[in-house]
Amino acid sequence: MITRSIEEAAVALRSGHLVAIPTETVYGLAADASSQSAVERIYTVKGRPLNHPVIVHISGVDEIRRWALTVPPWARALAETFWPGPLTLILPRSSEVGDWITGGQDNVGLRVPNHLLTLEIISRSGLGLAAPSANRYGAVSPTNAAAVLEDLGPYLDATNDLIFDGGNCVVGLESTIVDATSSRPRILRLGAVTAAQIEEITDLTIEYGTGGIRAPGTLENHYSPQASVHLQLVDSADSFIALAEVPTPSGLTRLAEPADVVEFAQVLYEALRKADALGLQNVVVLAPTGNGLAAAIRDRLKRAAASHPG
Ligand code: TXA
Ligand code: MG
Repeated sequence: MITRSIEEAAVALRSGHLVAIPTETVYGLAADASSQSAVERIYTVKGRPLNHPVIVHISGVDEIRRWALTVPPWARALAETFWPGPLTLILPRSSEVGDWITGGQDNVGLRVPNHLLTLEIISRSGLGLAAPSANRYGAVSPTNAAAVLEDLGPYLDATNDLIFDGGNCVVGLESTIVDATSSRPRILRLGAVTAAQIEEITDLTIEYGTGGIRAPGTLENHYSPQASVHLQLVDSADSFIALAEVPTPSGLTRLAEPADVVEFAQVLYEALRKADALGLQNVVVLAPTGNGLAAAIRDRLKRAAASHPG
């Protein structure tokens, strides 16, 4: 099921099968965006509700016009600056985009992932690839091929579906999502492209909140391992994740000690998976302070912690 062949992956996608694809953020579970039956299988394999929209992954800025009806100049500037990269733009959808991509909404999420092999798969297939993160619904996103196999292996079709092994994701957190359907950018999900960068490129003030856009998954208790996540030290703690400068409290299993914020994002999800693999129950994560990527990390951790009330 694991492959490193671009040709094999492109053929599988063209035949309506699923291929887990590496990106710089997290692995995605991809299908031909124009095929309703292929995209519906993504939902089955993930165990995800059918009305949740999925991002369409494209190979470059030129492909926007195929999938979006209109693009505000400031959104085009963002695409030209940050693509390929960890930014998803929500735009009014073109007639190419089926309801099965958008959960019936009239907009579409587009992204050019920054991973050479996946860009090659997209170009070679000639398709737009609908792809949510390649994990079971609500679980932690996978940042390597082994994590995809572990999470989705039992649900994939062993004969036809593939997992493309493109190494470890270099960012490690899902993309920043910007609603570009109104006059000003609105951030729906924090990520490695920061609010400050978006304001600088667009020369506009960002809005926050949903603004009437339905982006399920950005609102709910998501991104959580089996273990309970705590944002401060608790008596029940058995494991610990923090920057390397923070010493391990006695008696706790250290799951990761990233040197800085960038490495924190890279290793966080794998460290949470490790907690589950080791059968640990209560992981304390001391999140980094500051804006930008650190704020995105705190956003995910808050959701992970909220999934286990008490
Ligand atoms: O980094 C990423 O964005 C990864 C990689 C694989 O590209 N993808 C990812 O997809 O995180 P997913 O489906 O796990 O999260 C995408 C979020 C969901 O919460 C979904 O509701 C929202 O984006 N979304 C997608 N299309 C949308 C649309 N047309 N309107 C509003 N929200 C949308
Ligand atoms: Mg996801």
